[in-house]
Amino acid sequence: MRAVDIIQKKRDGIELTDAEISFFLDGAMGGTVPDYQLSAFLMAVYFNGMTKEELKTFTSKMMHSGDLINFEGIKKFLIDKHSTGGVGDKTTIALAGLFAAFDIGTAKLSGRGLGHTGGTIDKFEAIDGFKFPETKEELINMVNETGTGIMGYSDKIVPLDKKLYSLRDVTATVSSIPLIASSIMSKKLAVQADGIILDVKVGSGAFMKDIDQARELAKTMLSIGDSFNRKVVTVLTNMDQPLGHAVGNANEIIEAIETLKGRGPEDFTELVETIVALALQIKGDVSTLEEGKAKVLEAIKSGKAIDHLKAFIACAGGNPDLVDDYSLLPKAKHEVEVKSNKSGWVYRIEAEEIGKSAMVLGAGRETKEDIIDHSVGVILKKKVGDYVKEGETLAIIQYNDKNLDSSIKLLEDAYTIEDREVSKTNVIFEIHS
Ligand code: URA
Repeated sequence: MRAVDIIQKKRDGIELTDAEISFFLDGAMGGTVPDYQLSAFLMAVYFNGMTKEELKTFTSKMMHSGDLINFEGIKKFLIDKHSTGGVGDKTTIALAGLFAAFDIGTAKLSGRGLGHTGGTIDKFEAIDGFKFPETKEELINMVNETGTGIMGYSDKIVPLDKKLYSLRDVTATVSSIPLIASSIMSKKLAVQADGIILDVKVGSGAFMKDIDQARELAKTMLSIGDSFNRKVVTVLTNMDQPLGHAVGNANEIIEAIETLKGRGPEDFTELVETIVALALQIKGDVSTLEEGKAKVLEAIKSGKAIDHLKAFIACAGGNPDLVDDYSLLPKAKHEVEVKSNKSGWVYRIEAEEIGKSAMVLGAGRETKEDIIDHSVGVILKKKVGDYVKEGETLAIIQYNDKNLDSSIKLLEDAYTIEDREVSKTNVIFEIHS
């Protein structure tokens, strides 16, 4: 078999056999297929896509390129919620309390943030003394004790994805639905879970810029899940503005806590309720989303969700009192209000620009080596559909001594205000299973 013949076949739109895909990807991992051939192959996939059979083999090879994680010692029903990445996405923090309140286990690997979005790991590290498990055994103990265990991604999980992604990044082949779907799903499938909920962000601040693309990605990931007999649900959600009001690290922890106290922003609360209701449906505890959402409200009202979050924080080495005393979290030295220079309705808030305005203050990383300042960030006071008067506050910037001017500029540029009335947008667009 020769790599060049496989590339040619893919280029000409002919379906590849399992043996051909295996030969090619084994060569990519082993170094016998050089990067230039791999790049040509990726471009051929970009143009011609992959059939369901090809995707199954491709994803399986990716998944098996490294370690598979099984949690033999965990007795809970495990749900892995994954988001394709958005600004202000603090969902995993809120789920730590809510899933546990329903005896749904979380045993997942999460990422650090790079670029305009912060990662879950960074956000939790805003809590003084918070330490993530470093071994699988520590993770299992944490899940058994608190219902929730989260640890950083290891290079040993799907190493082939890392290799392919770095080539896609420099060959203009990132935005290929089958390549994105197999990249995400291989990492999800490599880790044991009874159900996978994929939050596919759609909009200017997301990978998927429009609903058609997002639907196609969701369909492809569902089809991969089906090929592996794994239960997958996809939720298409709005990223045409940041999620909730807080963008940063410590401030996102506070917003997630407020949500578990029943005082969260409308859009974020709706997303969290929907995801937990879907998890309850997958587990078989409820038959409709409405029934699930009612249970979520009960868990919030009774204080059960917040108690579970406290237990998780304590188990990870943080001080659980911070849940009732936010002064125990890092606080920026200064705040400045950014005012609107006109009256009207907020038409758009470019999520990516808001993410950048928090990042330049130190809330995110421009390079892998950057150190995060957990105290800084942005609080949006106006969201899409809100009326704002000239001189009224659009957002508050929480800052220390870095890049205030560029943060203000990015924030001002992110807002579009129109003279005509603008309606509020839904956070949940569609659910597919
Ligand atoms: N997220 C991933 O993990 N992979 C992609 O290709 C795109 C987004």
